[in-house]
Amino acid sequence: MKVFITRPIMDFGMERLQKAGLDVTVWEENRALTPEELVSHCQQADGLLNAGINQLNAKFLEACQNLKVISLHSVGYDHVDIETAKKFGIKVGNTPGVLTDATAETAFLLMQSVARNAFYLSNQISAGNWKASQDITQFGIELRGKTLGIFGLGSIGFALAKRAKAAFDMEIIYHNRSTNDRAEKELDARKVSFEELVTQSDVLSVHANLTAENTGIFNGEVFGQMKPSAIFINTARGGFHNEPDLIQALDNRQIWGAGLDVTNPEPMQPDNPLLKMPRVCILPHIGSATIETRIAMLNLAIDNLLAGLNGTSMKAEV
Ligand code: DGY
Repeated sequence: MKVFITRPIMDFGMERLQKAGLDVTVWEENRALTPEELVSHCQQADGLLNAGINQLNAKFLEACQNLKVISLHSVGYDHVDIETAKKFGIKVGNTPGVLTDATAETAFLLMQSVARNAFYLSNQISAGNWKASQDITQFGIELRGKTLGIFGLGSIGFALAKRAKAAFDMEIIYHNRSTNDRAEKELDARKVSFEELVTQSDVLSVHANLTAENTGIFNGEVFGQMKPSAIFINTARGGFHNEPDLIQALDNRQIWGAGLDVTNPEPMQPDNPLLKMPRVCILPHIGSATIETRIAMLNLAIDNLLAGLNGTSMKAEV
């Protein structure tokens, strides 16, 4: 059976696929595939191991109905038209659980980095301005006892809240459809309305799944309701925030700072004004990029792929 992989994977992964007797093609070029290239590689394939956010929309799925399985090397599946995949009998697997800690640690890193203006001040050294940190306008803020608001308190939000509580005794509020009993019991977390989340958070961190309903939810109006001392963190999907509105809110001091591991669009261009702004820290979507997590993700993605090809049940099916 034929399998297409959208970017090179670790050697042990290739060995597993070869041992399973699969005919594997890997996209080796150092640029993302165009939609047409993706279709032409997948039309004859039985399985797709998809790393990255290539749009696996209805048009793609219609053209690649030969696929038995799409195994995502990600927990997020907002880039896949799941309903259409189901209609064509294409199974879709993802990698939940294994990247929880790594992603929460990235949000924790950004929260602290923004609070201390770390990326901007580090860049000031390269610009020959070592003393920038002595200027009061560059001083940071402390996190102890502040309120952390989580938009979408699932496992990653919980892992961040747990760290924030232990390290800084932060008060945890969250906005979810359902109540998170564990967070309420173990972390004294409090479920609040979206408006309360926005107006009460000192740090607001996004950890929901991106859907048509919540795309662009963090816009100018919402930033305008946040505290002028608030930090906005997004490690989920760039689609949650409106980037021009975020830039304006930072420029106008409607919010204090922002930390993004996901941008809108991706990749972020090198001349993006956010990269030069004080109290802004940007990372290139590295939430799950630790050695431990990427090994676990690849193993789970391969388990799902093999199960999908063999017609057995996947460890994690969307
Ligand atoms: C995920 O797993 O969804 C990460 O954001 C990587 O895309």
